[in-house]
Amino acid sequence: MRLNKYIASCGVASRRGADALIVQGRVTVNGRVVNTVGVDINPDTDTVAVDGTLLSLADKKVYIMLNKPAGVLSTCQDDRSRKTVLDLVGDVGVRLFPVGRLDYDTEGLLLLTNDGDFAYRCTHPRHEVNKTYIALVHGRLDEQAVRRLEGGVMLDGVKTAPATIRVLQRAGKETRLEITIHEGRNRQIKRMFESVGCHVKALKRVSFGSLSLGDLPMGSWRYLSVMELKSMNMQV
Ligand code: URA
Repeated sequence: MRLNKYIASCGVASRRGADALIVQGRVTVNGRVVNTVGVDINPDTDTVAVDGTLLSLADKKVYIMLNKPAGVLSTCQDDRSRKTVLDLVGDVGVRLFPVGRLDYDTEGLLLLTNDGDFAYRCTHPRHEVNKTYIALVHGRLDEQAVRRLEGGVMLDGVKTAPATIRVLQRAGKETRLEITIHEGRNRQIKRMFESVGCHVKALKRVSFGSLSLGDLPMGSWRYLSVMELKSMNMQV
C-alpha cells in the first residue's frame, strides 16, 4: 500500500496532507525517516510513525453528517475567530476534518471524518460523486438557460461537466430549483448561474452520493450508519 494512503487510512491526514508530512521528514517506516513520496509499505509487517507516534489501521474511524447552517465556516479553524463546523460538532474523541467544502453562506449536508482515504475518494474528481443542491435564484432562468447550464458553461476557461436541473417553482423573477453536479469547483453553482445572468440567493446541499440530508435539523449532526457507509462503498 502507498505510504500516503496508509497514513490517510489511519485517520491522521488526507493523502495530500500525508504527502506534506512525508516531505517534512516527520514520517518514519521501521524507524527510518522516509521523506520522498510514492513509497510503498506493507501494512502487515512495516511500522509507520508520524512525529514518533506509531500508527495503526485499527484506529477508530468516525463518519459524521452535519446540517451546516449559513454563517459557519467549513474549515477547521479561522484566523478571524468565526464559528466553524468543528465548533458545532464538539469533541468526539478524534480529529475531524470536513469532506470538501461548502461556502460560508451555503447550508446543508457536510460530511466530517478522520478517514483521509474516505475524504479523498469522496472528493476526487475521478470518482464523480453526485451532489444535489436546492437553489433559489434571482433573474430570468428560462428553458434555454437551463439547457445551457446542463450542457456545461465556461468557468475560468474550462467547461463544467454535465449537470441536471429540475425547476421546482417559478414565482416572479425567482426560481427554486434542484441541481445535481459531480464536480466541486470553487463557488461552482453560484458562478454557473452568474454565467447565465442569475444570482443565487440561497443554496442548500441535500444529498452527497447515496447520502441524503433527510430531516436532520439545521445545526445538528449524526453518525453515518453502517448501511450508509456500505452505500458509499466503504468496507465496514
Ligand atoms: N457551489 C457553490 O457555489 N457553493 C457551495 O457552497 C457549493 C457549491
